[in-house]
Amino acid sequence: MCGIVGYVGPRQASDVLLGGLARLEYRGYDSAGVAIIGDASIDVERKVGKLANLRAALDDAPLVGSVGIGHTRWATHGAPTEANAHPHTDCTGRIAIVHNGIIENYSELREELAANGHALRSDTDTETVAHLIESYYTGDITDAVRRAVRRLEGSYALAVVHADEPGTIVAARKDSPLVVGAGTDENIVASDIPAVLEYTRDVLVLEDGDVATVTAGDVVVVDAGGAAREPERLHVEWDLAAAEKGGYEDFMLKEIYEQPTAIRETLRGRMGADGTVQLSELDMTDAEVAAIDRVFIVACGTSYHAGIVAKSLIERWARIPVEVDVSSEFRYRDPIVDPATLVVAITQSGETADTLAGVREARELGARAFAITNVVGSRVTRESDGVIYTHAGPEIGVAATKTFTAQIAALSVLALKLAQARGALSPERIASLWEEISLLPEVVEAVLADTDGIEACAAEYTGAVSSLFLGRGIGVPVAMEGALKLKEISYIHAEAYPAGEMKHGPIALITPEVPVVVVATQGHTYEKVVSNIQEVRARGARVIAVATHGDEEIARHAEHVLYVPRTSEAISAIPATVPMQLLAYHIAKMRGCNVDQPRNLAKSVTVE
Ligand code: M6R
Repeated sequence: MCGIVGYVGPRQASDVLLGGLARLEYRGYDSAGVAIIGDASIDVERKVGKLANLRAALDDAPLVGSVGIGHTRWATHGAPTEANAHPHTDCTGRIAIVHNGIIENYSELREELAANGHALRSDTDTETVAHLIESYYTGDITDAVRRAVRRLEGSYALAVVHADEPGTIVAARKDSPLVVGAGTDENIVASDIPAVLEYTRDVLVLEDGDVATVTAGDVVVVDAGGAAREPERLHVEWDLAAAEKGGYEDFMLKEIYEQPTAIRETLRGRMGADGTVQLSELDMTDAEVAAIDRVFIVACGTSYHAGIVAKSLIERWARIPVEVDVSSEFRYRDPIVDPATLVVAITQSGETADTLAGVREARELGARAFAITNVVGSRVTRESDGVIYTHAGPEIGVAATKTFTAQIAALSVLALKLAQARGALSPERIASLWEEISLLPEVVEAVLADTDGIEACAAEYTGAVSSLFLGRGIGVPVAMEGALKLKEISYIHAEAYPAGEMKHGPIALITPEVPVVVVATQGHTYEKVVSNIQEVRARGARVIAVATHGDEEIARHAEHVLYVPRTSEAISAIPATVPMQLLAYHIAKMRGCNVDQPRNLAKSVTVE
């Protein structure tokens, strides 16, 4: 995710900004920039790539001034280029802004601003905000920001400066974090606490809708309704390493807890007011979408599991046959692909060699190839006919967690789009499915609010050597993902099976020492799953069931029950996955494993 730092005080602002941005580097970024208020003007320097490039440019041509804003950008709109890097300026060059988040209505604002004579120079959503603020500016930058943010739909954390008000930074936020480090005769605006720790441990937390006027000696906060507000003040005791992880012990845990936000951001803006699914990235007419007669999904690892969830959704809702291939198999098996086939490549990193090869193979065979990825500007985005981005933010832990559930969220939107274009579901059914899907962030929040049972359960299985994960229907890919999480971070052997397959061989493995994790959430095969549980218990298995709140009955059949909120079966994969991630996490931690960097694994696999 992008990083914001703003400084006002007696020091050289560029030093503080570079230092603060360096503290946010762990979050990942692809370009960086600063804007410094100099002698009655704003000077901007931006560079693609690492902060070292920006630092070198500032060493060559220092920007002098004690007020400024800086940014590290993780691209969301437009490629990682210098023109798209922040800070962005207005037409006059006297306003500069940095932004984290996504402005959903930026296309419409852009058109309006262009029609009013504004010259926009980048592909970003952020630049529209600079020009919007310019259009409202009448001598008071705080007032202009307040009026501008009322027009914004989406999420934002903003830091804004104006050359005519050289001692002030205006900060505003909605659905994207922003704090002010409160120093003595200096203040630092930042998107995350590590950026301020070198100067102060007192932090003011801005809330959604707040607009803060930050000067060296004061921070004045006004809420969305225009009323003055005293922000919460924290005294931070964390050391830097803990602060980078937001106070969590590991990036993996932090990322598990970021899932509600990742899903929310991925779903943002996907349903139009008229009830149509918004997926302009497909760049296909509804008639072209309706003509798709087969979908192939190619992916590896966790992304492959998301693909199997998608198969279930697309076949159920759009009634199009879907094949899901491990990428490394797809290209060597002479797949039957033609121009009426849609190939969907799922890859978090966008750099997985086998998945890229699958995309090339599909396009050579005449199919349209579409990517679902988390990384703007990654190779898959350049090699595909279209891209849907998951907006999970950078994932630092090697084990995929938030990117998996964000992929399922994006694939749910794709499945609904296909269903709508083909008329496979009524408008009412699409509306009710969307209502459920859009509640997923809250559902995951509920799972994350109640995890004590998961830790206690984990404690009983730290000595296991082998384990089985079972499910049926959409529970199968959930079980596969649960098994992958456990094996890759705890090094306990874990194997996933469709529960009905147990008696065709794997049941021979059952002993009391082999824990069996079963996805037993409510659905049309629930009774069958319960029978499968009884089969393994009759052979001495100890069962951990992931079940639906209110299902008291299941407790009679399992040693441990990890409850998740009730959802419809089709969208149960996301909530059912979360306890499995936490179970794997706690078992691995109790075994003393490095969950962020498991042995032998890399985050991005760029070789075949
Ligand atoms: O970047 P990709 O989604 O293409 O990566 C594919 C797999 O390497 C990846 O999902 C891997 O299985 C996970 N990191 C495991 O947690």
